[in-house]
Amino acid sequence: MTRLHVISASVRPTSAARPVAQWVADRARAHGAFEVTPVDLGTIALPFLDEPEYASSGVYTHQHTRDWSALVDSADAFLFVLPMYNGGFTAPFKNAIDFLYREWRDKPVGLVSYSAGPTGGAPAAEMLLPVLTRLRMRPAARSVAIPGIGGLVGPEGFAVPEGLADRLAGVLDDVAELAEQRAAEAVTV
Ligand SMILES: Cc1cc2nc3c(=O)[nH]c(=O)nc-3n(C[C@H](O)[C@H](O)[C@H](O)COP(=O)(O)O)c2cc1C
Repeated sequence: MTRLHVISASVRPTSAARPVAQWVADRARAHGAFEVTPVDLGTIALPFLDEPEYASSGVYTHQHTRDWSALVDSADAFLFVLPMYNGGFTAPFKNAIDFLYREWRDKPVGLVSYSAGPTGGAPAAEMLLPVLTRLRMRPAARSVAIPGIGGLVGPEGFAVPEGLADRLAGVLDDVAELAEQRAAEAVTV
């Protein structure tokens, strides 16, 4: 089974990412192709990048980097659940990405974005694509954007909009297929 890490890519204490990521992780488990690990960036609480060497060196001096490295390394694929801030992805998430290099490389990734406004954070996901490509990750062809997030999360959790489960299933199918391709390449190399 593909080891899928569902990363809740927001660190605000009241982040909408948590209830959304919890639902996404449940759907990923139900999909059948994945062994799912939820990852909450808020709990991981990385500082700003403070390693003296480039991440590409793999030389890490801080325990928080080694822990983050081990966690990301243990995944075969990812789902990023990310908000949009001022038209783009968030600084803490970019920082968390920049901490590592080899650990992301070649791995499939699906994007689930959300925002208060009507775009559902699609511009943030678009903005992230060149970053993922630079890391030689394998972004899924399909992605999910959830608009009007303010009206969907509350004490009851996440009120799932109609049709969202089907759209997420498409992303999960894409990630599963990309992970299969990657595994097949590893066998033939
Ligand atoms: C700094 C900041 C900037 C935001 N900018 C936008 C924006 O450009 N467009 C939008 O639709 N919503 C924007 N929002 C609303 C967020 O998409 C919404 O509050 C979402 O829940 C934030 O994610 P979080 O709960 O994980 O922090 C912004 C929120 C914050 C905190």
